[in-house]
Amino acid sequence: MRHTLLLMMLAVATLQGHSQEKVIYDFEGYEIGDRLPMNDLYSDKTESVAEVTADPTNPQNKVLHVTNKSWNTLIELAIGHITQGNITESYRMLAFDLYRPASDANYKQFVARLGQDTIYADAGFYDQGQAETWVAKSYIMERTDEASDKIYMGFNSVDAEYYVDNIRLIAADYGYDFTDEQQTLRYHAAKAGKNIGVAVPVSRININDESLLPTQTVFRNFNMIVAENEMKPDALQPNRGEFNFYHGDCIVDFAARHDMEVRGHTLVWHKQVPAWISSDGIKNDHGYSRDELLQIMKDHITAVVSHYKGKVSEWDVVNECLDDDQTTIRTNPLSYDLRPSVWQNVIGEDYIDSAFVYAHRADPDAQLYINDYGVEFQGKAKTQAYYNLVRRLVNDGIPVGGVGFQCHLTVGDTDSAKFDNNVKRYAPLGVECAVTELDVSMPDAYAQGAEQQQAEEYGKIASVMMNYDHCRNILVWGVTDDMSWRQGNPLIFRQTLEPKPAFFTLRDILQSAAQIADGITTPDTGATASASVDVYDLGGRPVALGLDRKDIGRLPKGIYIIDGKCTVVR
Ligand code: G3I
Repeated sequence: MRHTLLLMMLAVATLQGHSQEKVIYDFEGYEIGDRLPMNDLYSDKTESVAEVTADPTNPQNKVLHVTNKSWNTLIELAIGHITQGNITESYRMLAFDLYRPASDANYKQFVARLGQDTIYADAGFYDQGQAETWVAKSYIMERTDEASDKIYMGFNSVDAEYYVDNIRLIAADYGYDFTDEQQTLRYHAAKAGKNIGVAVPVSRININDESLLPTQTVFRNFNMIVAENEMKPDALQPNRGEFNFYHGDCIVDFAARHDMEVRGHTLVWHKQVPAWISSDGIKNDHGYSRDELLQIMKDHITAVVSHYKGKVSEWDVVNECLDDDQTTIRTNPLSYDLRPSVWQNVIGEDYIDSAFVYAHRADPDAQLYINDYGVEFQGKAKTQAYYNLVRRLVNDGIPVGGVGFQCHLTVGDTDSAKFDNNVKRYAPLGVECAVTELDVSMPDAYAQGAEQQQAEEYGKIASVMMNYDHCRNILVWGVTDDMSWRQGNPLIFRQTLEPKPAFFTLRDILQSAAQIADGITTPDTGATASASVDVYDLGGRPVALGLDRKDIGRLPKGIYIIDGKCTVVR
């Protein structure tokens, strides 16, 4: 009773943007030495103690000091006075401040329960962050039907010691709920037989801490992951013969825990080359001979691809090898020009061939990609040069299995028909096509309608990928706008992790493709229907009103809403 009264006095609500926050325990109304019950899941008795004490960093502040003496022993929190029914319907996040003494060095698993239902559990045991400092933690709770007036939370450990303060419930409304898998991108992508992937900047997103909203956003929405920088040659082999696989391994482990495929990016590139090979990716400042540089390339590819054999399903073997200037093609339509790089300058064009052969020997099951930018839309010289190069490699029996279109775009760039025509012609070569680094910059990001235009651009690219069996993967190049390498808010999540219109457009397209793959929707043949139809895109915008039904097949390839149903025009 005493606690309930105290807690009623302590309950405060503040509005923060899209979220409402209630502090349920800040311990200021307690006496030093007061205890909260500790609940052992498997036993009536526990020696674990949760006692109000002075903050180790500020004696004026009261906090809860927890010493765990048995597994599965959690702090019991009374919440009945502030909620009715199921709290996970109203409040989606459980947050608190955590302080660990230096002695508490072990890896822990955070667990929370509402009554008997687990509403959060880390997938593994993690380092809970820096010791001897207060760290803010927040966990998205799973929805549950349990109506309980008690939350249990803590670290699943026989020997944990920690302090908590300011335990709070946060109601965040992002317009979607990623604990409901049907609202995520990957759910529909998987059903459509596609991968939706993301480049993760491991320096900015701690993928080892699954309580973090960015980390959760990644594993809940995407079924493919690529390291934004951490698997490039300068990161993996900073000194000759010295490999640093730590961050790459974290990505691979994270992917395995969450059933995601891994793209390896990248083995040979003119950028992010380790300084011991070249100071700028172009100069041969260490005077390597052709044979020496080939050996260096072979050693790197062999070590890296072997290390990740069976764990990385596909590699960007050669990245951005084409020159931006492809004017030669005007006089020789079958030509392509390669950019100057230390590889091209010292080894010659066959560095590309050799790189694919070395990678194939190291992992014959990996899909091996060439990857480039500015090669998406038919009609451009560089697009044709890319096709010419890939055709040459395939004809020469080089094990190229995939062609990557980076798709670093700006609103207004995308021409669906030109992208479609380009993608389609690679199928007869026997190679896959993938969108490997999609982002769409907005020149005036805050103009009215800009985000909607951006969403349409994402939609056009994704729709083409849905139409072909030789296109499995679409990857976006980053998680939130603030972390992008580009200006103009080019990604699908805001800094707050709130999904943007582009997220919803992508999801609609994946969902439609999934429904079509399931045979749920079929184009209306029109046998008994009206002579004319209204055609809408997936965002509900009119494409053609009053179109003669027999002209449906003449629409540009894509997915439309016709007669209220998803219809694919192939
Ligand atoms: O790691 C250092 C850090 O120690 C230092 O404090 C900081 C100061 O600037 O720089 C950090 O390195 C940066 C690195 O990203 C990690 O954040 C580099 O300066 C920066 O150049 C590097 O940029 C990356 C860029 O490739 C390099 O070429 C971008 O994050 C990455 O998104 C971008 O990715 C490429 C693809 O690999 C290939 N296609 C194009 C795409 C976009 O440029």
